[in-house]
Amino acid sequence: MTEVDFLDDTRTSYDAFAAEYAEQFRDELDGNTWDRAFLAAFAEVVRAAGGGPVADIGCGPGRVTHHLHGLGLDVFGIDLSPGMLAQARRSHPQLRFSEGSMTDLHLPDGGLSGIVAWYSVIHVPDELLPATFAGFHRALAPGGHLALAFQVGDEPLHLTEALGHPVDLTFHRRQPDRVAALLTAAGLEVRARLVREPEAYAGRVERTAQAYLLARRPAAG
Ligand SMILES: C[S@@+](CC[C@H](N)C(=O)[O-])C[C@H]1O[C@@H](n2cnc3c(N)ncnc32)[C@H](O)[C@@H]1O
Repeated sequence: MTEVDFLDDTRTSYDAFAAEYAEQFRDELDGNTWDRAFLAAFAEVVRAAGGGPVADIGCGPGRVTHHLHGLGLDVFGIDLSPGMLAQARRSHPQLRFSEGSMTDLHLPDGGLSGIVAWYSVIHVPDELLPATFAGFHRALAPGGHLALAFQVGDEPLHLTEALGHPVDLTFHRRQPDRVAALLTAAGLEVRARLVREPEAYAGRVERTAQAYLLARRPAAG
């Protein structure tokens, strides 16, 4: 599969169920203590380092962007899917959202104090993760922080149907140590890692453990 193929499949799939996804996940953070806790820690370290612009990459309908804005961050969203971006703009007209792929970021070097990629690097195949993380390193200012969340596992999950729509979507589940090693290889320092067991909440039952990583571009590096 070429890069264009998997990006097209991912974009078309999220476009297909963007409205349903936005509805289903609108208030999900309210019941998700772990996500809120890790995002709060991320917001604190970004603010403690002086604040500055934060990109929510793979922002989907903007629920995390909105949450981080509420925590005092100067945050904007980027996503591959125009359908998801339309949901984000409708729900959060006061925030900035733009179209783009994390595999080819068009952001100035060193301009960001933070990057969040919340359940979005899950759609990047293994062979493109090193370049994607190198792009995150490049876009972060020295001392800037990266927060990642993803499902833990060894095998990808491929869906042909989601939220009532036909899709062609691959979720790359990964071991946190392997992702941490790739972040380190990209020049980022891994500062914190949390792995939690699957939870059942708000009518949803998670199928896997969930991982959260916090990394930092070194002050000189
Ligand atoms: C599971 S959703 C998570 C959305 C949001 N972060 C949240 O937590 O609600 C994954 C999102 O990543 C986006 N995405 C997938 N691949 C991407 C890429 N290469 N660049 C930017 N966004 C991407 C999808 O369009 C989708 O909106």
